[in-house]
Amino acid sequence: MASNYESVEHDVLVIGAGGAGLRAAIEASAAGVKVGLVCKSLLGKAHTVMAEGGMAAALANVDERDNWRVHFSDTMRGGQYVNNWRMAELHAREAPDRVRELEAWGAVFDRTPDGKILQRNFGGHRYPRLAHVGDRTGLELIRTLQDHGIHQGIEVFMEQTVVTLLKHGDRVAGAFGYDRERGRFKIFKARAVVIATGGIGRAYKITSNSWEYTGDGQSLAYHAGADLADMEFVQFHPTGMIWPPSVMGLLVTEAVRGEGGVLRNKDGKRFMFDDIPDLYKNQTTDNPEEGWRYTQGDKNARRPPELLTRDHVARCIMREVKAGRGSPHGGVFLDIAWIKEKIPNAADHIKRKLPSMYHQFMQLANLDITMQPMEIGPTTHYIMGGIRVNGDTQMSTVPGLFAAGEAAAGLHGANRLGGNSLSDLIVFGKRAGEFAAKFAKDNPPVNVNPDEAADAARRALEPFDRGAISPNAGGPYQIQFDLQAMMQELVGIVRREDEMLRALDDIARLRQRADQAGVQGHREYNPGWHTCLDLNNLLTVAEAVTRSALERKESRGGHFRDDFPGKDPAFGKVNIVVRKNPDGAMSVRREPIPPMPAELQRVIEEMK
Ligand code: FUM
Repeated sequence: MASNYESVEHDVLVIGAGGAGLRAAIEASAAGVKVGLVCKSLLGKAHTVMAEGGMAAALANVDERDNWRVHFSDTMRGGQYVNNWRMAELHAREAPDRVRELEAWGAVFDRTPDGKILQRNFGGHRYPRLAHVGDRTGLELIRTLQDHGIHQGIEVFMEQTVVTLLKHGDRVAGAFGYDRERGRFKIFKARAVVIATGGIGRAYKITSNSWEYTGDGQSLAYHAGADLADMEFVQFHPTGMIWPPSVMGLLVTEAVRGEGGVLRNKDGKRFMFDDIPDLYKNQTTDNPEEGWRYTQGDKNARRPPELLTRDHVARCIMREVKAGRGSPHGGVFLDIAWIKEKIPNAADHIKRKLPSMYHQFMQLANLDITMQPMEIGPTTHYIMGGIRVNGDTQMSTVPGLFAAGEAAAGLHGANRLGGNSLSDLIVFGKRAGEFAAKFAKDNPPVNVNPDEAADAARRALEPFDRGAISPNAGGPYQIQFDLQAMMQELVGIVRREDEMLRALDDIARLRQRADQAGVQGHREYNPGWHTCLDLNNLLTVAEAVTRSALERKESRGGHFRDDFPGKDPAFGKVNIVVRKNPDGAMSVRREPIPPMPAELQRVIEEMK
């Protein structure tokens, strides 16, 4: 056993303490195993809170026609049929129980007049399906799980960065990391590890993600030998703040549109009526009055085009901007204030339904959304791809290594429906915790190789050996900034082969710079050092996104290729999978999607 470093030991180690990590830790702990929970930031500070508008579950509280079959088919259609259909099935079947469980654990949902959990409309969901708490649903989910989890004996390690996963033969044996305050290394030995570290948003310049989201989990799993799948599918949420520049990218919840908000260009035109995709034609209205009635719960009305899927809405916004019909700061207008024409006391209604949005714009942009339209534009919000897992157990292709939530691939296919992330976290967080605990019980103990830990420590400390900022490489912040700007420009909402080939060259150059980047000072409170170590993860996921996007020579969901603007049925049958070769290079292959059982095919046919 390595004696140079502090070491802790658990049966199950959960890395990441957002919704998925907390739910996994609760479940594993309830199964009677010893659980450690590691997070890069403070407990509860997670991108989960950026899923503001609600969690999708076919509770049928507002529209009795809803059920798991409709939710399943909506999720598959939203994902353009490259989803892991087993995950989509489990998610649709189990989400209602997981939401009711949260309620039993104390989540304070908004209510229907007869006291049931209230549900609202969101893009791509056929019926009002999002259980919500105003526009703070993710926050309430985290609060509830924290309150519940605190009594379960879970050992929490805050402000820790994991730099590598440890292996015992093919099996995962834990993780090696350091505490961010003091820079002291630590071995986290474990029989099973759950990765729940969220997304990769910080690989892009404009993002709703905060500083933690540097693709750590995807990169850790990849370097430990796990497959990543569908990395080309990055979600650009149509509505982020674009002004003032200091808050560019901050999320403006889809609930604004769910409550009747409309999108207009600089001429005041509702441009979303101009392009309604075939898949949604029969459910989307071209009549503004009918669209309004839909948002007000008229069961016979069809949805307004603002509630089409995010990939489509984001592209329509970009079309307006490119055509010179955008807003002064390069976006379009999102208007909820207009509903004062329709309902009395509209300002109070907006403040009650969208309290965070009201305060966000008032405080950050000095704009009253009950009176004026917001200026918004697409923001990098989510990655549908991630660690490839078994749909039932959430185990990756590395034995003992599990993943849940945004870090895992499969459920959402090519595009995630809003609200399906929070239900994803609680459905698959639970499953990951359950099966990780089972794996830990069923398998013998692991050994940690001291040389592996020593090697990881030596590599982590290299930036200090390089000393001051190299004139050729620039500092770690500059490298991260250059990577973000490059990904935004070359592998963003609209992609082309020549640009993505340039991106690969740039990534190689940025990697060379990252290998030379040095930091001064010592390990205590050294954010430059943290950023140096983040760069490896950011570059790994940026390369995976770019190589996968090059391989998918079609447009589908969140992946739009200017040079292949249509869908290709052959690509509708495959996932793109990347893996680390023994020589260290990244390999890319197309992997057939297993055939869907006849019962599920029938569900999809019926729902069409
Ligand atoms: O717009 C939103 O409130 C985000 C929800 C989500 O990403 O699921």
